[in-house]
Amino acid sequence: PSLDEIVNLHDFEAVAKAILPPKAWAYYSSASDDEITIRENRAAYQRVWFRPRVLRDVSTVNWSTTILGYKSSLPVYISATALGKLGHPDGELNLTRAAGKHGVIQMIPTLASCSFDEILDAAVPSQTLFLQLYVNRDREITKRYVQHAEKRGVKALFITVDAPQLGRREKDMRMKFVDEGGVAKVQEGDTGVKKDEGVARAISSFIDPSLSWKDIPWFKSITNMAIVLKGVATPQDALMAYDYGLAGIVLSNHGGRQLDTARSGLENLVEVVEALKTRGPWPNPRFAVFVDGGVRRASDVLKAIALGASAVGVGRAFMYSFCAYGQEGVEKAFQIFRDELEMNMRLIGVRTIDELTPDLVDASALHAH
Ligand code: FNR
Repeated sequence: PSLDEIVNLHDFEAVAKAILPPKAWAYYSSASDDEITIRENRAAYQRVWFRPRVLRDVSTVNWSTTILGYKSSLPVYISATALGKLGHPDGELNLTRAAGKHGVIQMIPTLASCSFDEILDAAVPSQTLFLQLYVNRDREITKRYVQHAEKRGVKALFITVDAPQLGRREKDMRMKFVDEGGVAKVQEGDTGVKKDEGVARAISSFIDPSLSWKDIPWFKSITNMAIVLKGVATPQDALMAYDYGLAGIVLSNHGGRQLDTARSGLENLVEVVEALKTRGPWPNPRFAVFVDGGVRRASDVLKAIALGASAVGVGRAFMYSFCAYGQEGVEKAFQIFRDELEMNMRLIGVRTIDELTPDLVDASALHAH
């Protein structure tokens, strides 16, 4: 179909499935074990209902916001997804160029197909970029990477903490990993993995499973970037992140690709925000809570923010948008978010993102499975 025929983000997924080579589709779409968590990520949003307000003069609505203090035209950021070139020859640059044009924030993955500098070179001067970090067993490599990113103007470091070992994504494991034409710019160092274990395992064996809270002061010593932990799931860890002086957390289960039957980020959000209220009124300007996983509609975004999230991360929906259509597909995905945000905000009765409060949703069924 032509881009004009795409009306929602699900359409991009159907097109990607139809056009991608089986190996790429397997890597992008797969989740771990029985793929229960990936389904739950969508289902959780469907257990939250709106309690819209009326007669609030919604002639003008504005969905721009700030994320970690940086302007964003959408209450959504592009989460890190590895290996963009499996889906399109321009890989991650599709996201960078679209994001630069539309004032959206992109989180660059450690395992991008394009090199870090290629991505930075494709950005416009005012563009805000974050970096997702997989921590290398060789800390010197990590230190150089982080400090180079800071020097090039990256604003925040999202350390992925839910992947001391990669999840078993069985669809992906059934595919042999053949690196055709340098799809993966694997980090330095011998990976020591046989290339017959699927894409995910072939590219990820450098990740250090010994990473612990004791390493946090070291990260703070090597960079002044805001540090956020990506992949937190409990109030206990949320409070530890707060007390270690970090800038925030992402409530995420890695799009269902890590621990299967982990709860959804949305479900964890409610109790995490309750716990953080022991540290001060919420929202707390010193600490951000992001949510990702399963977001396909602006209504999902508005629900998470109403329940206390600062902004929401989107992975697959943006990846799928560039597979057939490149940068234009990503721009269309932004347009779909804008159109849906405008309509939903009017119908809920809010004019700005700040006006989204817990009384606008009924989350009483969220914990009932
Ligand atoms: C990811 N994600 C991810 N996260 C991360 O920290 N480092 C990474 O390299 C990747 N790579 C990656 C590849 C692919 C193909 C997917 C689908 C996801 C997880 C990602 O950042 C985010 O947490 C989820 O994608 C959110 O769920 P949705 O939006 O895909 O449902």
